Amino acid sequence: MRGRLVAGNWKSNGDLAANEALLGHIRAAAADLQGAACAVCVPYPYLFQARQVLAHSTVAWGGQDVSQFGAGAYTGAVTAVMLREFDCRYVIVGHSERRSVFGERNEVVAAKFGAASQAGLTPILCVGETLQERETGKMEEVVGAQLDAVIAAKGAAAMGSAVVAYEPVWAIGTGKTATPEQAQAAHAFIRARIAAHHAVIASKLVILYGGSVKAANAGQLFAMPDIDGGLIGGAALVAEEFMAICRAAERR
Ligand code: 13P
Repeated sequence: MRGRLVAGNWKSNGDLAANEALLGHIRAAAADLQGAACAVCVPYPYLFQARQVLAHSTVAWGGQDVSQFGAGAYTGAVTAVMLREFDCRYVIVGHSERRSVFGERNEVVAAKFGAASQAGLTPILCVGETLQERETGKMEEVVGAQLDAVIAAKGAAAMGSAVVAYEPVWAIGTGKTATPEQAQAAHAFIRARIAAHHAVIASKLVILYGGSVKAANAGQLFAMPDIDGGLIGGAALVAEEFMAICRAAERR
């Protein structure tokens, strides 16, 4: 049976005092989660704090982006090896905000995915279509191309140590969640796309749904056969809400 994972993506939010309270609450509440793993992806400056508060707990932590390059003259870029040095387990790559605001193309995302894998991090590869793409029937074309770019560059076997997050752009931060059926259809498509290359890896691949997940809708989403957890934005900043989502992912 596939594992379950709920990961928080804090985006550019947080401060030392608020983080201390939020991380402390998550650490305590996650201790008795069963059959579901929990992680937080925090802004770079707070990785030190996340490690301090979460060390020796059941909660993992990670970054929200990573450089496609190694050490060197790349002002502002943070390498995968640096993230490992702070004991990150995960790093998000190809989030739609990185793609749309910072102009990251599929090839750059694939290079970041490779850099993360090589350093021993688990990349959380985000894919998803815009509203216009969905309404013009292009979801599979867009998501397929996002997956194919990584498979072409790194091979399907690289998916064996990754997580995929399906995040329809129209559902991110909008309060408009994909229906469980819409999300399930996209997740099944993603799994089939990987299965065409490697059936065993596809069957084991953890695929998260992201986009306006809340405690109130998490249970219905996680009940779908190909939805293995969530990547949570706004609701990950509210301790009780985030932990309720983690509990909705439990398998007892
Ligand atoms: P929201 O949960 O705020 O919609 O954000 C989702 C997301 O982008 C997670 O990466």
